[in-house]
Amino acid sequence: MKHIIEMLEAKRAEAELGGGQKRIDAQHAKGKLTARERLELLLDENSFEEYDVYVEHRCKEFGMDSKKIPGDGVVTGHGTINGRLVYVFSKDFTVFGGSLSRSHAEKIVKVQQMAVKNGAPIIGLFDAGGARIQEGVESLAGYADIFLENVLSSGVVPQISVIMGPCAGGDVYSPAMTDFIFMVRDTSNMFVTGPDVVKTVTNEQVTAEELGGARVHTQKSGVADGAFENDFEALTQIRRLMDFIPANNQEKAPIREGRVVKNEPDYSLDTLVPSNPNQPYDIKELIEKTVDDGDFFEIGADFAKNIVCGFGRVEGATVGVVANQPMSLAGVLDSDSSRKAARFVRFCDCFNIPIITFVDVPGFMPGTKQEYGGLIKHGAKLLFAYAEATVPKVTIITRKAYGGAYDVMSSKHIRGDVNYAWPSAEIAVMGAKGAVEIIFRADMNDPEKIKERTDEYQKRFANPFVAASLGFIDDVIMPHNTRFKIANALRTLKKKKLSNPWKKHDNIPL
Ligand code: HXC
Repeated sequence: MKHIIEMLEAKRAEAELGGGQKRIDAQHAKGKLTARERLELLLDENSFEEYDVYVEHRCKEFGMDSKKIPGDGVVTGHGTINGRLVYVFSKDFTVFGGSLSRSHAEKIVKVQQMAVKNGAPIIGLFDAGGARIQEGVESLAGYADIFLENVLSSGVVPQISVIMGPCAGGDVYSPAMTDFIFMVRDTSNMFVTGPDVVKTVTNEQVTAEELGGARVHTQKSGVADGAFENDFEALTQIRRLMDFIPANNQEKAPIREGRVVKNEPDYSLDTLVPSNPNQPYDIKELIEKTVDDGDFFEIGADFAKNIVCGFGRVEGATVGVVANQPMSLAGVLDSDSSRKAARFVRFCDCFNIPIITFVDVPGFMPGTKQEYGGLIKHGAKLLFAYAEATVPKVTIITRKAYGGAYDVMSSKHIRGDVNYAWPSAEIAVMGAKGAVEIIFRADMNDPEKIKERTDEYQKRFANPFVAASLGFIDDVIMPHNTRFKIANALRTLKKKKLSNPWKKHDNIPL
């Protein structure tokens, strides 16, 4: 017995040292923490319970049978974040570069399955060189097993990926199927094929950072939902995010008890919308004045800035906020902003999070670039996502709600539950100038007539009252009452019951 205990302890110590002190030092020298140090920061103190520490790879090729490290390059198990259960896996770059063997994959699949069985989120920390080259197709099979679990878990428990080092080949597809991807600036990158292969195939010369660094994926591709300065900041922020989201699709997000929104007007909001309709203003001011304590966790802050998405709380309960941002491209909807918001709306709907939508949108972006890029399909994604969502939906039109974008942005017609407009709202097919140029084209050579027509159109449609008279807007509210009105609306919607017709699954325009 003593002998066995000594052996177990020796193996555990070996596992804890991963690829050895030299490789740990190299990891630290790059500004990265080790797999275990990361879990310590992510989870509540002493809450981590590890599984499969004695698992080793079974590869015999290329002298691998003499190179075995217990745990085989990934640390798995469960712990808590602010007392709530989460399953975790953390790739250990010091062991064969965190590459994936069949055994390594089996460890990940085990925690993926346990997360679903026990209704808890799963968080993956990535720092890995892809498929274990020595294992060949066994490794590819392992990836496929993980991908399958990613898909089966999607919409059942939240899945979060944090990219904290290189992430190549198979290691990018699993994160891509999770709900959110976060990266660490300067030390992480993601690509399907690395710079060497790119050079061979396309003769293009790029660095890993240029090909798939955090800037690329948070600003250009939109693959990542956020980036942080270092491992510490990333893990602390993931803890903060987890507080906003529910454990699974049957539960609601945790509630901070004792918060009641009183009828305390915020008069600063009455001057938020400038009198010049073409002048921008920062919609984040409204968001921060709506959510409790101005605490807003933004998703995709650096990508498609013309739409703002993120989590906040109202009366202690999580809400998802989607808002056109007049500060960027006048808040227009284009392909990127539609994709970004559609995915966010679908996350909220999967996980019982009510959606607040702030609308100030001049329409969809015109032009060949957008049309050639498939704006029709991308715009339809957002329309589809809002229309199918059955969670409570509260919409506030602050200024422009033009054209198809009016319909898309959680309008009454696609089952917005409570739809308000500020007195500054303009709900119309398009702006007055554009409208007059089309319907009074014959008068275009008569500037006076055109001015008269424009004024007439402006007067008729540049207000919320036509929509309100038709019941498309439930009420015109004063900006200073917005938080109170939203809190009241959400209170009435707490027990909302709505379901869609039975189907195997929908066919969202991908
Ligand atoms: C086995 C690997 C490995 C791999 C790295 N290592 N990647 N071992 N399989 N895929 C080992 C190295 O041999 C080395 O071992 C240690 O990890 C650290 O690697 P270095 O190259 O020294 O580190 P660094 O210079 O930081 O470069 C990291 C890296 C690079 C960018 C990740 O190692 C790399 O390009 N690796 C290969 C990436 C790749 O092409 N993977 C396969 C993708 S295909 P020692 O003993 O020296 O410490 C794929 C298919 C799946 O994943 C498709 C599913 C859809």
